[in-house]
Amino acid sequence: MGKLSAAITAVGAYVPNFVLTNKMLEGMVETNDEWITTRTGIKERRILKPEEGEGTSYLAIKAAEDLIEKRRLDPTEIDLVMVATATPDTLVASTAAYVATKIGATNAFGYDLLAACSSFLYGMSTAANYVQTGRYKKVLLIGADKMSSIVDYTDRTTCIIFGDGAGAALFEPNEEGLGLQDEYLRSNGVGRNYLSMDAGGSLMPASMETVKNRKHYIYQDGKSVFKFAVSNMADAAARIMEQNALTHEDVAWLVPHQANKRIIDATANRMGLDHAKVMMNIQRYGNTTSATLPLLLADYEDQLKKGDNLVFAAFGGGFTWGAIYLKWAYNK
Ligand code: UT7
Repeated sequence: MGKLSAAITAVGAYVPNFVLTNKMLEGMVETNDEWITTRTGIKERRILKPEEGEGTSYLAIKAAEDLIEKRRLDPTEIDLVMVATATPDTLVASTAAYVATKIGATNAFGYDLLAACSSFLYGMSTAANYVQTGRYKKVLLIGADKMSSIVDYTDRTTCIIFGDGAGAALFEPNEEGLGLQDEYLRSNGVGRNYLSMDAGGSLMPASMETVKNRKHYIYQDGKSVFKFAVSNMADAAARIMEQNALTHEDVAWLVPHQANKRIIDATANRMGLDHAKVMMNIQRYGNTTSATLPLLLADYEDQLKKGDNLVFAAFGGGFTWGAIYLKWAYNK
C-alpha cells in the first residue's frame, strides 16, 4: 500500500436568505455602490436574520446537511467534526460538538478551530493530518461564520465587507496520491493591533464599559491589513508553487480567500495566472471569513476535474496566512 493522502471527497454549502445589497448599505452609512464595487468587488452579501435562524451553528448544520444529502453519507460514519470559525455560538462550549450531535454524527468528536479568515485553510491541514495517520477515515471540516453578529453597522469600513455563510468539505483517505500535497502556513502576532474584536475574551472581559464603548464589534485598520494581505497572500501562493515546481500552466485553479477583489487579483498576478482560473464569488457573498474557501468549492464543483491542481490561499486576522496545494479527487 502506498502512502496515504487525504482528499476532499464531497462539499456542501449554505448561505442565509436575506440579501444585503450595496444600495441598502447606502441608506445605513455614508457609502455608495460605486465605491464598494471598485474598492472591494462586492455587490451584495447574505445576512442571517433571527426569523430564519440563530447562531453560526445554524449555518454550519445547513452546510453539513447539504454535503450529507448530496453524498448520501451516513453521518454515523463521520469520525470528527471540526468547525472553523471566528464567531462560535458561545465561548467555552465548542460549536462543533453541537453541530455533530445535530447532524447525527453520533460516533464523532468535535471541536472548533479559530484563526480568523485563515481558519478553514489551517483546518484543511489539520483535517488532512488526522486522515493521513490512518486512524480517522471521515473528517468533516466546516467553515462557518455569522459575521453580522460582530459587525458594527455604523462603521462603514467593516460593514460593507462582511457577510454570513458556511461551507463544508469531507476529507477521506486516498491511495492514488490525490488530495493535499503540500502547505505553507504562517502567522504573526503583530496582527492583533490591526484587526480584532477587543472585548469579550480573557484580556478584556465584558462589562458595561466595553458595551458602551462598542468594544464587542470587529475593528480593522483596513489600509494596513490590506498591505499585509496583498504581500503575504501573494507570497504564500508563489512559494507553494516554487516548493512544488508548479508553473502557471500546471495550476488549474486558484482558490483565494474572498476579502477584497484587489487582493485576489494581486495574488493571481504574482502567480502569473490567467484570471479565468481564479475562483471568485465575492460579488455575491462578500467576505464570509471562514466560509469563503468551501463556498468557492461548492460554487465551482461542477467545473472541477479529478487530478486538477488547486492552490488555496488565505490571509486573516492574527495575522494568519498561507497556501495549500491540493489535487482534486473526483469528477462530479
Ligand atoms: O479578510 C480578512 C482581512 N481583511 C481584509 O483583507 C480587508 C483589507 N482591507 C480592505 O479591503 C480595504 O482596506 C478596505 C476595503 C477596507 C478599504 O479600502 P481602501 O482602498 O483601503 O480605502 P481607505 O481606507 O484607504 O479609504 C479611502 C477613502 C477614505 O477617504 P479619504 O480619507 O481619502 O477622503 C475613506 O474615508 O475612502 C473612504 N472610505 C469610504 N468611502 C465610501 C472608507 N470606507 C468607505 C466606504 N464608502 N465604505
